[in-house]
Amino acid sequence: MDRLLVGVDFLLRSVTLAPRRLSWHMRNAKLRRGLKSIGKRVRISEPAELFPLDRIAIGWNVVIHGPVFIEANGGVSIGSNVAIARGCQILTSNHIYDGDALPWDHASTHKPVVIGDNVWIGADVVILPGVTLHEGAVVGAGSVVTRDVPKCGIVAGNPAVLKKHRDIERYERNKREGRLRLVPDDISRHTLVS
Ligand SMILES: CC(C)(COP(=O)(O)OP(=O)(O)OC[C@H]1O[C@@H](n2cnc3c(N)ncnc32)[C@H](O)[C@@H]1OP(=O)(O)O)[C@@H](O)C(=O)NCCC(=O)NCCS
Repeated sequence: MDRLLVGVDFLLRSVTLAPRRLSWHMRNAKLRRGLKSIGKRVRISEPAELFPLDRIAIGWNVVIHGPVFIEANGGVSIGSNVAIARGCQILTSNHIYDGDALPWDHASTHKPVVIGDNVWIGADVVILPGVTLHEGAVVGAGSVVTRDVPKCGIVAGNPAVLKKHRDIERYERNKREGRLRLVPDDISRHTLVS
């Protein structure tokens, strides 16, 4: 009797989850096709608003927790082995507030955002147009990043300021020996899987 109930439960679940799985696969396919480039082992969880997709390049072994907002008109490049916590907003455009219309002109300016390899971005971070986070950088929770962050620099605050550096020797050793934290295989909460 128990086995019968388990069987019925499994069948019901498969049937009810099928439409969700289908829409998930379709969304994944759209993202994978649309992005400028994407490596293996990339996980982006929902809600995720990324546009335009063809201006976003993502390396391999990258996890981006939703909610995430990436406005990439100026181009966004995310390196490999990058972790972005929930609540991140990456912005590459500015409106012209001193032009011929209010509150801003019709034209916009665009500057790329570049995120190097092995970067960790904490929760609720805003990254402004034109910023480069060099490899190994760490951004503290709740920061607004207005300026470039040097290799292995640890910044925090609004505006984010340099607090310290990672231990560079240890960083280089880990890198040389390929000691990377692989993004977990658990795909259940994720929008995109590559
Ligand atoms: C940035 C961070 C990694 C630094 O951690 P740490 O090396 O232990 O740094 P400390 O706690 O020694 O802080 C160093 C200085 O930065 C300040 N600071 C640290 N994090 C800060 C933050 N998020 N915002 C503002 N200031 C911060 C500290 O007050 C301290 O300032 P002081 O030197 O004037 O006293 C950590 O504070 C952080 O923000 N982690 C992100 C957590 C997160 O988002 N997790 C999501 C899970 S993925």
